[in-house]
Amino acid sequence: MNEYERLEKCLAAIRERTDFVPDTALVLGSGLGGFTQSVDIKAEIPYEDIPNFPRSTVEGHKGRFVFGLIGDAKVVIMDGRVHYYEGYTMRDVVLPARLMRLMGAKVLFLTNAAGGINPDFSAGDMMLIEDHIASFVPNPLIGENIDEIGTRFPDMSHVYDADLSLAVKESAEELGIKLQKGVYLQLTGPSFETPAEIRMAGRLGADAVGMSTAVEAIAANHAGMRVCGVSCISNLAAGINPTPLTHAEVQECADKNAPRFKALVSESIQRISKML
Ligand code: HPA
Repeated sequence: MNEYERLEKCLAAIRERTDFVPDTALVLGSGLGGFTQSVDIKAEIPYEDIPNFPRSTVEGHKGRFVFGLIGDAKVVIMDGRVHYYEGYTMRDVVLPARLMRLMGAKVLFLTNAAGGINPDFSAGDMMLIEDHIASFVPNPLIGENIDEIGTRFPDMSHVYDADLSLAVKESAEELGIKLQKGVYLQLTGPSFETPAEIRMAGRLGADAVGMSTAVEAIAANHAGMRVCGVSCISNLAAGINPTPLTHAEVQECADKNAPRFKALVSESIQRISKML
């Protein structure tokens, strides 16, 4: 079975359960776990019910697609994502993004928790992802190209869509939420970085660091989706943070800032859906 056939099988399993066609796909990062409580849910499908679908194992991540409405916006939500550090291949990691494209989503809205590198950032800040550095992780498009989905050598000059990003900026302004902007650098994890790695990342132009997201953005761009992303700066990165990093600290800060994060994502998605 090639990758496109695998995707078609996943899609068929979903279509047995719901005929909901989303316009926007949303990936929930740490701290947005409770987001679906404010969604008018029309259907939900646990990942484990989808044959051939990779499943997330990390604590605090539930694995399911949620289909529903945020205002008038028709969304499919990935409640729990798949990380490379769990042992999946990059093809597995980006399968859900491609699948949501096949479900009909034209936009991919990415969220995550990230460590802050930019000295102007504080824990709890929201950062609009303006660009990314994915040079330290395997490219998710390696291997036979899926011609049905996209071209062999996709352009990456404008991965993060200017109009969608403007909608996020306007939403932040309306809600009175300070919005930082910057470059997200993806590393594999699961270890946090050393202070030397963070200094390197800063010199390379990164404002924030995390273990997800950039590869999803690459796959979505390949598949012709418009992409935008917001990071919750859940901690200052190693060497800047005064204490050793723990997953609990990341989760705690992300949870504390969840109400602002949720409000920003919800408002942004409603604005974006009016543009489509
Ligand atoms: N490093 C990498 N990934 C992260 C961090 C970090 O400091 N915080 C949240 N995700």
